[in-house]
Amino acid sequence: MTYRAIAIDGPSGAGKSTLAKRLAKELGFLYVDTGAIYRTVGLAALRQGVAPSDPAGVLPLLPALVITTAYAPDGLQHMYLNGEDVTQAIREHRVSDAASQVSAIPGVRAYLLEMQRRFARENDVIMDGRDIGTVVLPGAALKIYLTARPEARARRRHKELLERGQQTEYEAVLQDMLDRDYRDSHRAVAPLRQAEGAVLVDTTELDLDESFLALINLAKERLGL
Ligand code: DC
Repeated sequence: MTYRAIAIDGPSGAGKSTLAKRLAKELGFLYVDTGAIYRTVGLAALRQGVAPSDPAGVLPLLPALVITTAYAPDGLQHMYLNGEDVTQAIREHRVSDAASQVSAIPGVRAYLLEMQRRFARENDVIMDGRDIGTVVLPGAALKIYLTARPEARARRRHKELLERGQQTEYEAVLQDMLDRDYRDSHRAVAPLRQAEGAVLVDTTELDLDESFLALINLAKERLGL
């Protein structure tokens, strides 16, 4: 049996995970959040007291890490690190930075590649990340590059943080986002970029429902659903 795949890449705050999750539910596909996997490695590095940017510190940790996923009935992807549910812990701000740093280490990317591809060999998937259309699943039936202007992405993230009770300044959120965008798109290995054949969807002027409609129409058209 061959499975179908939808790859969604783009910078943080473009709405990838919210939209991919909704799309997966609508189509009955498995949603795979690959950023959560890099975050789990970032968390492991922090916990072991290793600098997340240091390959000599991070790479020896990998073979001993047991990283697994499980899906809640509502489709939420839970991440486990050595058996501990770290789904919440990996969302901390310091872990976002650590994830971005470990993800620039080529050996980390190579190590996680097979794990990501296995999901797509065994399920219909919607996978989101930075290099899904370019490296992980270049043969995906539909590839989407989802983006929005940095100010719009920072506004959304700022609102989200305030709603969660985390007091932050908009300017700080924007700067953080620009730093992470820069790092993710200028690294030597698998930098963030629009894959060949990927459809560009810019959500700057679209709300969530409008963005969803754009994606579901693309999916139906490309996958013949
Ligand atoms: O999507 P996210 O913010 O949860 O991702 C966390 C970090 O992991 C992000 O800075 C870039 C990196 N990442 C990556 O390099 N490749 C992926 N496929 C997914 C995430």
